Amino acid sequence: MKSLKILIIEDEKLIRWSLEKHLTSKGYVVYSAETGEEGIKLFELNRPEVVFVDNKLPNMQGLEVILKLTSLDEEAIIVFMTAYGSIETAVIAMKSGASEYINKPFIFEEIDVILENIKAKINLNKEIQILRRQQKDIITFDHIIGEAPIFNEIIQLSRKIAKTKSTTILLLGESGTGKDMFAHAIHNESTRNDKPFVTINCSSLPDSLLESELFGYEKGAFTDAKIMKKGLFEIAEGGTVFLDEIGEINQATQIKLLGVLENRIVRRLGGTLNIPVDIRIIAATNRDLIKAVNEKSFREDLYYRLKVFQIILPSLRDRKEDIPLLAEYFIKYFNLQFQKNIKKINDSVINLLIQYQWPGNIRELRNVMERAVILETMNTLQAESFPGEIVTLNETTKTFTQEETSFNFTSEKLQFPFDENLSLYDIEKLMIKQALQKTDFNQTKASELLGISRDTLRYKIKKYKF
Ligand SMILES: Nc1ncnc2c1ncn2[C@@H]1O[C@H](COP(=O)(O)OP(=O)(O)O)[C@@H](O)[C@H]1O
Ligand SMILES: [Mg+2]
Repeated sequence: MKSLKILIIEDEKLIRWSLEKHLTSKGYVVYSAETGEEGIKLFELNRPEVVFVDNKLPNMQGLEVILKLTSLDEEAIIVFMTAYGSIETAVIAMKSGASEYINKPFIFEEIDVILENIKAKINLNKEIQILRRQQKDIITFDHIIGEAPIFNEIIQLSRKIAKTKSTTILLLGESGTGKDMFAHAIHNESTRNDKPFVTINCSSLPDSLLESELFGYEKGAFTDAKIMKKGLFEIAEGGTVFLDEIGEINQATQIKLLGVLENRIVRRLGGTLNIPVDIRIIAATNRDLIKAVNEKSFREDLYYRLKVFQIILPSLRDRKEDIPLLAEYFIKYFNLQFQKNIKKINDSVINLLIQYQWPGNIRELRNVMERAVILETMNTLQAESFPGEIVTLNETTKTFTQEETSFNFTSEKLQFPFDENLSLYDIEKLMIKQALQKTDFNQTKASELLGISRDTLRYKIKKYKF
């Protein structure tokens, strides 16, 4: 980070001078002014991130200066200096927009600590801003790739539902089918898009922590609650809360969540106040919620509250026609990221990608394409740049000869000696090939057909280098 710009507004020459000297020696860019008026001018001219303002100034008082500065830039960070040890003045200063205060005479270590904290805060704010911008810039429905009829229909419906203000949405689908993306797109295409989009993964936190994250707590609610903390529902005011992996929350939190959905009210842990919240809730899970309801691990009433509008995202193998389109999109995407210039994918590889089952859905495809773009040295993606388990099967199909495919795979028909030229090795290889073909390369079905475990089948696929 480039060095912070700091403005000192202080009329006592000695203090001004020594502070200026200290801060300059620490590498900050320092401006100083003797009066409030002069300080404001310097502020407008140089836009320092931090301003040290003295309480007693000629003409214009410190508090007035603070008000003026914060009206010029509400993000200006102001450190209020007071020699009079008056807590009340400090409190008023903080209320007027100062973020810190320091008593004179001060020691420089104190100032150093304050500035370190300020730097950390500025960095954090920058990160948040970048993330916000990314969310906004990147994900709308225009960024969601797919033209398969079932998918198209879902996009159209989701676009419509995005326009409703508060309708709760439940996103279902296997991992990697785009639930996160849809949640972002819905928020970004809703009227709430200038308000926060807050997301929490319900499975990533222990139960008690999840509850305090969601609902916040009052000071003293438990031992560690030293100060009041707002929960995410409150923080998201006006915006959208995305509850990812909702299938994982415990019974107590389920009841509380039901309360939020029914009454749009939250209560902080240890609190008695009912705080109204204006938010849209989007929940997502890859779990079978109906099953969870039947097994009583998920409350039925909550399930119905959540599925006011339900979107089921298809797995990638159910919209295979989108695979070439997605692959092409990821080539462009990763070309940009890695400064490559890959034009397309070898046709035989495309066929392989279409045949593959993609248990990790688009996330898996994206990862595979990223790896391929990195590894490829030509301008067309070759099979060698893809993981073995994806490209080996294709070679099986490709190298089948007429003779081989006419080999009839049923145990009754296997009569010894059926072909003296075939070794046991050849026979096993052919049987596996045919089983795979018959089952459309579904390894689970093929292994059942062959009477071997899936692991054995996998091992043999590798062994025969399909
Ligand atoms: N239709 C799509 N078009 C482009 N990229 C997608 C699409 N669906 C998912 N992705 C990408 O695939 C990855 C997984 O998507 P994500 O939304 O996190 O899935 P989920 O939340 O269902 O596990 C992300 O990197 C996302 O950007
Ligand atoms: Mg997700």
